[in-house]
Amino acid sequence: LMRLAEKIKLVEEVVSVPHYNVAGYTHGKLVYTTTEEGVACLWSLDTSSGLKTRLADDVYMVGNIVPDSPLAVYTKDVSRGREQQRAYLVDVRNGKRREIGEVEPRRITEVCFDGKTVALSTASEEAVELWIAKPDGSAEKVYQTRDLLFASSIYHGRIAGVGVLRGDPRTYEIFIYDLSDGEFTVYTPKEGASNRSPKLFQEKMLFATTAFGGERLLIYDLKEKRLEEPEYAYKDYERFDFTEYVLFDWFEGGRIWFVGKREGRTRAFVDGMLIPLPEGFIHMLTVVGDKVYASHSSLTEPRKIYEVDLTTGKVETVLGVGLPSRVKTRLDRAYPAKYRSFDGVEITAYVVESADASKPGPCIVYVHGGPWAEVADRWNPFIASLAVCGYHVVAPNFRGSTGYGEEFRRMDIGDPGGGDLMDVVYAAEWARGKGLASKVAILGYSYGGFMTFLATVKRPDVWDAGVAGAGITDWEEMYELGDAFFRRFVEILFGERRELWKDRSAAYFAENLKVPLCIMHPQNDTRTPLKPVLRYAAKLLELGKTFELHVLPEVGHAMTRMDDVFKVLFPAVLFLEKYISK
Ligand code: 4NP
Repeated sequence: LMRLAEKIKLVEEVVSVPHYNVAGYTHGKLVYTTTEEGVACLWSLDTSSGLKTRLADDVYMVGNIVPDSPLAVYTKDVSRGREQQRAYLVDVRNGKRREIGEVEPRRITEVCFDGKTVALSTASEEAVELWIAKPDGSAEKVYQTRDLLFASSIYHGRIAGVGVLRGDPRTYEIFIYDLSDGEFTVYTPKEGASNRSPKLFQEKMLFATTAFGGERLLIYDLKEKRLEEPEYAYKDYERFDFTEYVLFDWFEGGRIWFVGKREGRTRAFVDGMLIPLPEGFIHMLTVVGDKVYASHSSLTEPRKIYEVDLTTGKVETVLGVGLPSRVKTRLDRAYPAKYRSFDGVEITAYVVESADASKPGPCIVYVHGGPWAEVADRWNPFIASLAVCGYHVVAPNFRGSTGYGEEFRRMDIGDPGGGDLMDVVYAAEWARGKGLASKVAILGYSYGGFMTFLATVKRPDVWDAGVAGAGITDWEEMYELGDAFFRRFVEILFGERRELWKDRSAAYFAENLKVPLCIMHPQNDTRTPLKPVLRYAAKLLELGKTFELHVLPEVGHAMTRMDDVFKVLFPAVLFLEKYISK
C-alpha cells in the first residue's frame, strides 16, 4: 500500500506539471501562456531564433491575437480572486505594456480584438455590459442589459457575440452591435436554435448553430442577409461526424480552420485538411503559413504545444514536458463508458483506472462544474491526482453536459439537482456493478460541489464519503450575493422556477447527511460565495455530523496559482485516505 507521504508527493508532481496554451501568432512570435512559474504567465517564442520572452505575469484571460497587430490583449484579476479584472495590452516586439485604465476593475467574461479596437463583455453588480477600448488606453461603455451575453468577435466597427436574448433560457441568439450607429441587432437562423461564438470577417459571420439539426458551422452574409455553407479546399472533414464545433475562426483572408468534437475527443481541420495530432483534445490553434501551432492534451498527457508542418505532416513538440514516470505509470487507462440512467437516458462517463488500485477498489465519482461543460479526454489535474493516489475515477457527463447534442445539454434547465443528480447516482451504481468500485466517494468543484452537497443529503445511502469544493448549499442566499451575471445565470439554469430553489438546496436537508464530508472553499469566491457554505458548516456542527472545513485565504473561484490547486487537493487526499482507501 502506498504511504500517505508518497501520495502527497505524487499530487504535488501532478499539479506542478506546467501547461502550455497557444494564444496566437504575430510578428514572428508564437504567443502563449504557461504555468511554468506556478501561475499562468504570457510569453512569446521567437520561432526563428528560439528566444523566449515573458510578456506578463499572473494573467487571467488572453484575447485573440491579430496577425496585423503586434499587440496582445489580456486581463488580470486585481482583487485577490474576486474576479474584478483590469485589461492590458502588450506589444510582443518590445514587451511594452499599457493598462486600459478607463475600464475600472469588473468581471470580464470575454475579450476580443481586431487590431484597432478591443471589445469586452463584462458584468457589474447591476448590469451586463459591452465595452470598447483603444490601444491608447481610452475606453467607453457602449451597451448595457440584464441579459446574459458574451462578445466573441470584433471587426471594423462591429461586435458580435451570443446571449440569452429572447428570454428563452434554452436558446442562444447572436447579437451584432454596430459601433457607428449604436444599433444592437439580434439574429438567429431559426427560433429555438442555440448559436455559438460568431466570428466576423469583412461582411461575413462564421458561427455554430443547432438551427438545422445537430450543430453545424455556417456563414451569414451580413450585407446580403443570406446563410451560406462554408467552403473548404480539402475534404478530409467529410469523413467525420461531429457533435460540436468547439473552436473555429478565419485565417489568411477568408479561409477557415475548425476543431470538431465527438465523445470528448477532437480533430482539427485547416481549410478542410485534417491535422495529424494524437488522440485527445485540441485546446487552441493558430495557422502560420504552412505551419500550425496547437495546444493539445489528454486525460493522461498534460497540455503541450505542437508544431505541425502542413506540407510534410511532421509533428513536433515545441513547448511542453511529459509526466514524471512514476506519475505516468499510475495513470493506467482512460476511456469513455456508457450506462443507462434511472429513466433510460444514456450517459457517458470518462473512466480513469488507477494502476495502484485493485478491482474492485476505492473509487471517486468526479462531478464536473459548469454545469454546461464536460469531462473530455483532456488533462484534468483533479482527476489525474486522484488516479495516481490509488483511486479509480468515474466522471459522468450527466444530463446538461455539453458534447452530446443540444437536446441533452438543455435537459438540466428547470431541473438542476434533479435528473442530473440521478445520473451521478447511477454512475456510482454502474461502477459497483462493473466490479470497479468497492467504496465510493463523490467529489466535485463548483457545480460539482453543489451536486456533492445535494447528493450526500438526498441520496445518503449511495456514498461512503463526499468532498465538496466551492459548492452551493443555498440558492436563495447565493442569488442575493451574486452580481448581474450570476443572478441571471441562476434564473436561466432554473428556467425561472424559483419555487425549486429550496428543494435543490442541501441547507434544507442537512439532517439527512450520513457520511463524512470534506468541504473546501475559496474565501474570495464571487461565483459560489463562501457565506452560505459557512452557515451550512455551522448547521452540520449543531447536528453533530462528521465534517471538515477548509477555507482558502486570498483565493477566488477560478484558481490561477498551482499551489492553490494543491491546497484544495491536499486535504481531499488526507480525507479520502481516512474514509475510503481501506
Ligand atoms: P462553475 O461555477 O461550476 O465553475 O461553472 C458555477 C457558478 C454558479 C453556478 C453554477 C456553476 N450557478 O448555477 O449559479
